[in-house]
Amino acid sequence: MCIFVIRVFLGILLCTPYQCLECPFGCECFVVTRTVKCVSKDLLTVPENIPGYVRTVIITGNNIQQIGPDSFTELENVTNIILSNNRISEMASHTFSTLINLRFLDLSGNQLALIHPEALSIPGSPLQELNLSHSLYNYTALTDLTTAMRWGGLGGLLHLDLSGNHLTLLPPGMFSYLPNLQRLFLAHNSLVAVYTGTFSGMNRLELLDLTHNAFRSFRDDALQELEKLENARIILGNNPYTCSCEIHNFVTWLNKTKAQIDVDAVKCTSPGELTGTHVRGLSIQAIGCVSPVLADVTDLTLQTSYVFLGLVLGFVGMVFLFVLYLNRKGMKKWIIEMRDACRDVLEGYHYRYEMDSDPRLGHISADGSRAQRHFGVALSQQLPNDTCIVQLPTDKHVKQVTPSPSVNL
Ligand SMILES: *[C@@H]1O[C@H](CO)[C@@H](O)[C@H](O)[C@H]1NC(C)=O
Ligand SMILES: *[C@@H]1O[C@H](CO)[C@@H](O)[C@H](O)[C@H]1NC(C)=O
Ligand SMILES: *[C@@H]1O[C@H](CO)[C@@H](O)[C@H](O)[C@H]1NC(C)=O
Ligand SMILES: *[C@@H]1O[C@H](CO)[C@@H](O)[C@H](O)[C@H]1NC(C)=O
Repeated sequence: MCIFVIRVFLGILLCTPYQCLECPFGCECFVVTRTVKCVSKDLLTVPENIPGYVRTVIITGNNIQQIGPDSFTELENVTNIILSNNRISEMASHTFSTLINLRFLDLSGNQLALIHPEALSIPGSPLQELNLSHSLYNYTALTDLTTAMRWGGLGGLLHLDLSGNHLTLLPPGMFSYLPNLQRLFLAHNSLVAVYTGTFSGMNRLELLDLTHNAFRSFRDDALQELEKLENARIILGNNPYTCSCEIHNFVTWLNKTKAQIDVDAVKCTSPGELTGTHVRGLSIQAIGCVSPVLADVTDLTLQTSYVFLGLVLGFVGMVFLFVLYLNRKGMKKWIIEMRDACRDVLEGYHYRYEMDSDPRLGHISADGSRAQRHFGVALSQQLPNDTCIVQLPTDKHVKQVTPSPSVNL
């Protein structure tokens, strides 16, 4: 017992100066667990002299705005870095590139606005777990991250946490450069839709967490996209599902899919009378849908009736034109008679009139034989002008009323 106490005492005595020499100011170093901890020390930069034996670096709750290639040097044995809640806004190129054994990186709770495309690239892509929960400042940061993924460096990633980032939209194919990804956390965002290609290239996915988003339903393309994730457990609970007719395809899919879904947590949020009801198993009547077969039939009937109406109108129009064409002679006679009658009436007065006509019409009349063929069409346009426009004479000489030539079509 006594010997043990002396040993512990001696150990502390021997260890303390070693730690004081080797451990960065404001941090605690643990030789046995090979860990350095710098927690809530208002550090402005990552401490420089982190001992080389360290495997785990924990720097949290500080005020480090920027990290870059100088932040972590000569730390080849580090496997885990926890940098949560440091108000980091910028991650420069090759920040972690000397950490060839880094497996686990936690950047959660930061305000990343700028991520360099090569910020996360490490030779050999050793990184397996990346936590970016509550850390993307805005959509620009997401596109930066997407670019960083495309540039490589995360090919070995197994787990990715992007929860709590206010994401409303995922760039199509953004995960396709993570072929080994097994767990993807997208909970607590504002996602409203999944599109074709959103989850493309993730053939090894085992878990997809989409809880606490803004999904009201899933459309057909989204369901096909989810169906492709054959081996994954897909968590869809705690979304504001609206159980109206629009959710019909989602219900049908839930009814029959073999995908592993947390069906018991997928419940209606609205309308009021269905709140809390399981979405799976809802009947068409419950969600207020007209049967799709009936709807299709109605649709078809409506279309058919429009086509029929069009045909009838076209036919009537053609018959009318044909009748006009057959009666062209009679019509011509009738018009001349009308004109003469009009003239007679005018001559009944004691004034003299001169019926003038448009020179263009005169020209047409010269070419009467050709125009006559278009009689039916031209008639309606010409008739009013020719019969009714009357001008007072401007000439002092008394003129004979000349018959208007224009109707001689
Ligand atoms: C990393 O670990 C190896 C083996 O444990 C050791 O030989 C090497 O010195 C360590 N590197 C540093 C920088 O301490
Ligand atoms: C990521 O970090 C957050 C906050 O520190 C934590 O709650 C969450 O569990 C972490 N994600 C994973 C997958 O471990
Ligand atoms: C995101 O934030 C950065 C830094 O404040 C800004 O430059 C950028 O324009 C923002 N992007 C969007 C989409 O708001
Ligand atoms: C879903 O299945 C239930 C029975 O399990 C059935 O009553 C309901 O009509 C189905 N809903 C749809 C939209 O297919």
